[in-house]
Amino acid sequence: MAKQKEENTPFDIDEYLGKIPTMTSNIFKKRDVMRSTYIPENLPHRIDQIKFITQIIAPALSLENRSISNLFLYGKTGTGKTAVVYYVLHHFKMKCQELGREDIKTVFINCRDVDTSYRVLARLCEQIGEDIPFTGLPTDVVYEKFKTKIDDGKIGLLIIVLDEIDQLVKKSHGKKRPNKALYELTRINSDLNNSRVHLIGISNDLNFKNNLDSRILSSLGEEEKVFPPYNSLELEDILRERAIMGLKEGVLENGTISLAAALAASEHGDARRAIDLLRVAAELAERNEDRSITQNHVREAIRNIEHDKIKDTIKTLPLQSKLIMLSIYLLE
Ligand SMILES: Nc1ncnc2c1ncn2[C@@H]1O[C@H](COP(=O)(O)OP(=O)(O)O)[C@@H](O)[C@H]1O
Ligand SMILES: [Mg+2]
Repeated sequence: MAKQKEENTPFDIDEYLGKIPTMTSNIFKKRDVMRSTYIPENLPHRIDQIKFITQIIAPALSLENRSISNLFLYGKTGTGKTAVVYYVLHHFKMKCQELGREDIKTVFINCRDVDTSYRVLARLCEQIGEDIPFTGLPTDVVYEKFKTKIDDGKIGLLIIVLDEIDQLVKKSHGKKRPNKALYELTRINSDLNNSRVHLIGISNDLNFKNNLDSRILSSLGEEEKVFPPYNSLELEDILRERAIMGLKEGVLENGTISLAAALAASEHGDARRAIDLLRVAAELAERNEDRSITQNHVREAIRNIEHDKIKDTIKTLPLQSKLIMLSIYLLE
């Protein structure tokens, strides 16, 4: 009966949409801050990694143009690798500007989006101002264009970050085969006269290095740093800082942050998971028009997230596997 009434109540969509822009949230102060794509100015518990990377790349600023070692960073997802590298490069670029070092350039590539040799090289060309025709060129020609451009005297040092570098190494016939761009980039310096390339590789896959071509390995892994999982107390600090920036004051009930942190820590110390949990809990509180975010919202958030994860996993299964799962379900 109640359902009938609800369905018959006229819904004025235009009035509803008109209200949205002027509606203020009782829960969120800055919604974007609570997304895991946001990179904060402060990264607690990563001082060691920030210092290490800074110390490796800082000599590039010296006037003698000292060469710097390649760097390989690895750790599970959500351990702050991308955020830390963004943070360090952001400050490094500002310093370059302040010192008038136009000869130093940095390029950031996420190999999940750009995963073929051609696309990596084309993206690199694009970033250093070398046009690649829309119709495409053979990969070797793109590589030659890239090499000529960086060696034309204007660039002294090019820092290339290859985030999610494991995507450039595909398995074939039981062996890991690096794509050509990765192979060329690790040995490019021997072909350059006026400039140098410095690589920072980032991998979520801890086994990435196993079975990797030894020449690539020795070039890429000149310096290495591990990003360990965050523990529960560290995640609490990270969440607390986010909450101060992103949520209204006083909306967090005691114990909410601790529970979200503990749940994320018990998986694999993933800050992304912790932040997503807190954001979804906050959205649930907002949708229910509750005044505060409670442990129950966090528990409901984890159920929602798990549900979405399982749904996504099942969606990507091949038909045969879906049918097997269905028969097991029906048998039970
Ligand atoms: N120490 C930290 N302090 C604050 N936020 C962090 C910290 N480490 C990670 N994050 C946040 O967690 C999320 C995932 O981090 P990210 O750097 O993308 O992880 P990874 O690249 O290791 O998978 C991002 O929103 C990031 O801003
Ligand atoms: Mg990352």
